[in-house]
Amino acid sequence: MSVEDSIRHHLLSIKPYEPVLPKSALGGPGALENDLPIKLNGNENPYGPSPKVVKSLAGFTEYHVYPDPDQMAIRTKLSAYTQTSIDSIIAGSGCDELIDLLLRLTIDPDDEVIDCTPTFGMYSFSTHVCGGKIISVPRNSQFAVDVDAVIAAITARTKIIFVASPNNPTGNILPAEDLLRLVGTGILVVVDETYYEFSGITHAKLVKTYPNLIILRSLSKWAGLASLRIGYGLMDPTIVEWLMTIKPPYNVNAAAELALLASLEDAAYLKANVKSIIQERDRMISNLGEIRGLNPLPSSGNFILVEVPLVSGKSICEELSSYNIFVRDLSDPRLQNYFRLSIGTREQNDRLTRSLTKIIEDRGA
Ligand SMILES: Cc1ncc(COP(=O)(O)O)c(C=O)c1O
Repeated sequence: MSVEDSIRHHLLSIKPYEPVLPKSALGGPGALENDLPIKLNGNENPYGPSPKVVKSLAGFTEYHVYPDPDQMAIRTKLSAYTQTSIDSIIAGSGCDELIDLLLRLTIDPDDEVIDCTPTFGMYSFSTHVCGGKIISVPRNSQFAVDVDAVIAAITARTKIIFVASPNNPTGNILPAEDLLRLVGTGILVVVDETYYEFSGITHAKLVKTYPNLIILRSLSKWAGLASLRIGYGLMDPTIVEWLMTIKPPYNVNAAAELALLASLEDAAYLKANVKSIIQERDRMISNLGEIRGLNPLPSSGNFILVEVPLVSGKSICEELSSYNIFVRDLSDPRLQNYFRLSIGTREQNDRLTRSLTKIIEDRGA
């Protein structure tokens, strides 16, 4: 008997999620510039966490004690930050874990989940892992959600509709009127607001009115905590209770808990960094727009999707890596002439702009 004989049948053909390369795998002898590698492929925060997080973790000694399974300190702090009652809040090991938990809660074999492509890959990946079937409804030519098509795709087996707002990688938000039509279907609608702090636009207030609306958020991006894995959801208390029942008891570790508490204590500092990232994003959109052959799209996140109509996005990513700069190519068939860059510091962004200018000039495009 082989190991494969023991694996759940539907997982034998699963396409692995393609995570971004870690820092340790970047750079190397091929680099043309002597400068340090610039990692702009994971929508990470170039300013890092709040200094209060670093201080709080340095002074922590209780690593031998399990964290609170009810997450009371975290949920109390988030209640004040989100103006939502504690019983409507649950935290997870990143937004990723909450996506997975919601699917584990709802999916029977062959149930359907709708996502709106191009979009974040974890919705389809976790759906497959959970034994569900992903129904991908393409966004329109402006990358807006095609609400009519989503509604037409709903069947008796549809369990969840996922929409990211701002959407990764296209950077646009889901307008309220579109959301209202989606929640009007009665199906669970998950609005992933991982990049909320960069857009300033949220649908969280609607959670009280619509028990089938779930908002997901993260501290990976605006609070610079990607490596600690902490996110949260806002939703009807009944769904929170169900998720509390099925989640691993200690799903949020003590370091992530401390980091969340210290970050929210220092929200003003982090929001100032968010403001700098937004200013840099808008400056980059304007600078990149000046380069012939590049078409940066508007963005409400901390990243920009750039169209390169004449060449493949992958080839631009490869050439940039020889300058020790790492951006993200995209597997979606509609995005073969695009790449995505995360907003870095002003110096990093300027080096990226210089390198891109040189690459395009050398190609004579
Ligand atoms: C739309 C979207 N949702 C969720 C995540 C993952 O968030 P977390 O780091 O909290 O798991 C990402 C990460 O890039 C994302 O782009």
